[in-house]
Amino acid sequence: MFPRRVLCGIQPSSVPHVGNYLGAVKKWIDLQNSGDNLVVMLADLHAVTIPREPEVLRKSILETAASLLACGIDPKRSIIYRQSQLPHHTELNWLLSTLTTVQKVAHIPTYKSKVKDDAPIPLGLFLYPVLQSADILLFKTTHLPVGEDQIPHLQLCTYMIEKFYHYYKQNIFPVPELLATETNRIRSLRRPEQKMSKSDFEERARIDIMDDEDVIRERVMKALTDFNSQISYDRQQRPGVSNLIDIYAGISGQSIETIVKEAQRDNLNTGAFKKQLAQLIIEHFRPKRLEYLKLLDDRSHLLSILENGRERAREIADKTLNEVKDVMGL
Ligand code: ADP
Ligand code: NA
Repeated sequence: MFPRRVLCGIQPSSVPHVGNYLGAVKKWIDLQNSGDNLVVMLADLHAVTIPREPEVLRKSILETAASLLACGIDPKRSIIYRQSQLPHHTELNWLLSTLTTVQKVAHIPTYKSKVKDDAPIPLGLFLYPVLQSADILLFKTTHLPVGEDQIPHLQLCTYMIEKFYHYYKQNIFPVPELLATETNRIRSLRRPEQKMSKSDFEERARIDIMDDEDVIRERVMKALTDFNSQISYDRQQRPGVSNLIDIYAGISGQSIETIVKEAQRDNLNTGAFKKQLAQLIIEHFRPKRLEYLKLLDDRSHLLSILENGRERAREIADKTLNEVKDVMGL
């Protein structure tokens, strides 16, 4: 009944890191290349949940767009655009906010984990999952390639779809499904018990995919491991080394068992393994980085791609929003 459509979102607050790439971007490109209809949204409205340095944000939005294109997002097949350039998101956000409750949103674990006891809670942070539902429903998204940590957000979205049906007796939204993404979360290079994240203030904890080769090598070589210099895989007991093996597996496409077996066969210690990993990452991203630099060099071309994406997104969003308002009597 609803045509298959996949929504992919990323906060453009800095160039995607290796975790974003392996956990998200690479999968989006596989989906696109196997024929899915993708909407790739640069979630810049979500990015300003934390106030940003305007010039830094402006720059990193373009860098994120260039990174995604350089990695293989094809603007002829996929829609790539900036969330803030389509007021429909915030309008639908308002309409949806009438369908849920403060209590329901306050129960979402990602929200609860961000709220410290007495600290003031930005209203935007609170509304984040509602805006996210607006993003999803605006495109009548059928599939979301996101991790299991997003299940509570998806449940809120489903709840609002049900409420909408309950009040207005119209079934206009598909219930979106998770597209299982099986890979392990990539973790911080400095504190391997945490995930690698753009919001980590410590830059050395991540590898941004368009980093200089020297930076990539240094970050990998300085990644925190443990006192055991052998290569073995155990995410609980040896999170540092296992994370490096996860990255190796994600980029090379080899299985973890093969990687460990070969490292043991070749008698690699963690230092030598890190060298190999750094080389693998550098070579994987080298051609992409050249393309990235070319894209950034032609700013007006890049902007025209995003503008074209916005127009295509707007066509879909206009229809949905008109339909929602009509059903609600607006
Ligand atoms: P971040 O958490 O770094 O700010 P985003 O929230 O913009 O990243 O997430 C963009 C996509 O990247 C999401 O699909 C998210 O699940 C994925 N992602 C983020 N961090 C990681 C990670 N460390 N490992 C695997 N996937 C990740
Ligand atoms: Na995030």
